[in-house]
Amino acid sequence: MLVPSAAALSLLAIPVAHGWGTLGHATVGAIADHYLTAQAKSWVSTKLDGATMASVASWADTYRYTTAGRFSAPYHFIDAEDSPPSACSVNLNRDCGAGGCVVSAIANYTQRVQDGRLTHENSKEALEFLIHFIGDVTQPLHDEAEQVGGNDIPVTWDGATTNLHACWDTQMLEKAAGGGNTSATLSSFSATLIGRIDSGSYSGQKASWLSCSNIKTASACALAWAQDANAFNCQYVLKTDENGKELDGTYYTGAEPIIEIQIAKAGYRLGDWINKMAAANP
Ligand SMILES: *[C@@H]1O[C@H](CO)[C@@H](O)[C@H](O)[C@H]1NC(C)=O
Ligand SMILES: *[C@@H]1O[C@H](CO)[C@@H](O)[C@H](O)[C@H]1NC(C)=O
Repeated sequence: MLVPSAAALSLLAIPVAHGWGTLGHATVGAIADHYLTAQAKSWVSTKLDGATMASVASWADTYRYTTAGRFSAPYHFIDAEDSPPSACSVNLNRDCGAGGCVVSAIANYTQRVQDGRLTHENSKEALEFLIHFIGDVTQPLHDEAEQVGGNDIPVTWDGATTNLHACWDTQMLEKAAGGGNTSATLSSFSATLIGRIDSGSYSGQKASWLSCSNIKTASACALAWAQDANAFNCQYVLKTDENGKELDGTYYTGAEPIIEIQIAKAGYRLGDWINKMAAANP
């Protein structure tokens, strides 16, 4: 039997899991990169010192565990105090804590990235936060207080103990993508989702993903995105009691299309959001 290292144990002790894992966030970034206008591409490149959105998409998950970045931990989620699976809802007054939440963070960093008075470093950081949080908000369990967003629901994946939240972030996503966090998986998964957006099964509904897409009403749009994702908790994510169950089976089969559409949505929205910000601040 493998004895877990101290580092692995301390990771297990982290109360709230990451958000889409590294591959999920990188896919959101890669899809968004694909939809940038030429002007937005250069706007982003200048802010990110030449980096792509895909490559910086997980920075906020590293930063939150540093002393300097601790303040940003609540920005990765909104703890909706609803009653899944019978009633799902997100309410900003009820659910966004005093320390902020993903909705207030998207609004804050949308404003900051366009604020010409910020230093280059602060502007870059604002964009990196935004790239990450527009990804996090589409993960249904990031918009849910129940059992700490599923972190406290133990499940197994291929026999190994994990929790419901982590399975959505990483194990199920990597299975849907067809591999782990490698650049080959990133390319093929993002190409598959871009194909569906352009001319496949998502092409008829992608316009509805942008039904709230005004950068001047960032808080309202971020709330609408949180509500859209939170609804999946009643429809599927928390509909059945998965406590102690193996997820790599029927549960995964139902989860896969939700993961794929939510990642595609996040990437498509992020690209559009950045295009609008770049156009408004040439
Ligand atoms: C906005 O972001 C800045 C920089 O990270 C932070 O200091 C500030 O507290 C944030 N404000 C809100 C309301 O989240
Ligand atoms: C994921 O892959 C990227 C690109 O190959 C790499 O830079 C990053 O360190 C990897 N992250 C993890 C957590 O393995």
